[in-house]
Amino acid sequence: MVAPFDSVTTAHTKIRLPTAGDAAFVTAIENDADLKRFVGGPSGKSEECYRKSLGKPRDLWCLIVESLDWGVQIGRCGLMTPLTSDECEVHVILAKHHCGHGIGTEVALKLREIAEARFPNRFLTAKAHPENAPSLAIIAKLGFSADGTVISDSYDHGWLRFRRSLAPNHLILVRWKKPLAICHETTRHNPQQRLLCVFHQLQVLHFPVRFCAVDHGRADEWGF
Ligand SMILES: CC(C)(COP(=O)(O)OP(=O)(O)OC[C@H]1O[C@@H](n2cnc3c(N)ncnc32)[C@H](O)[C@@H]1OP(=O)(O)O)[C@@H](O)C(=O)NCCC(=O)NCCS
Repeated sequence: MVAPFDSVTTAHTKIRLPTAGDAAFVTAIENDADLKRFVGGPSGKSEECYRKSLGKPRDLWCLIVESLDWGVQIGRCGLMTPLTSDECEVHVILAKHHCGHGIGTEVALKLREIAEARFPNRFLTAKAHPENAPSLAIIAKLGFSADGTVISDSYDHGWLRFRRSLAPNHLILVRWKKPLAICHETTRHNPQQRLLCVFHQLQVLHFPVRFCAVDHGRADEWGF
């Protein structure tokens, strides 16, 4: 089931749910050996196969990117949110002649925004072939941390993994009897980084500190 999602726009694109009518376009990009060089190679799937799956979208895994200037499809993108994990994987593939004009960056930033609004309890993830330079350049702009490499028996074995929280950008208040320090939300899901941040602020190693999230307004109230 897809939660209501009509479409969103970026400066140059409209991102929308697919329809069976997009099958020919998706088949073409999914079977373009050049384009899929660093993304698992051609899928080998037929237009009929894509027509069936695109006609009944179940989540946001495959969205169509349309050019606002020409009103035609120029790529596909999506957010994969498996039931079996707390991840939300972002991906973008553009038709060849639309690559290299900043569209991939624009679409990826919008997908991050959608993910933050819809899946705040998940982690945004991305993976890329180590030689996929444009993909890695976009990943660098999305605020990810490196998360090792993919270990799998599939095409993505050895790819670089990236991960970041989708939680709102809160500050963390550190309390010991009274509010003592704050650190930034981005350290929240990284225990080692979080502890270092606290130790840095408290200059001790054995405080029984407590963490709670506060928004920026409350932190100001407490005089930090
Ligand atoms: C990856 C992809 C989506 C990037 O989209 P794009 O519109 O081409 O990328 P942009 O124009 O926004 O450029 C993004 C960055 O990559 C860099 N870049 C673009 N093409 C490049 C190339 N051929 N070699 C090296 N860097 C390149 C740009 O300079 C830019 O970095 P900068 O802003 O630091 O200068 C697109 O190239 C694509 O669809 N590739 C094939 C499929 C794929 O690999 N998808 C990724 C799977 S998630």
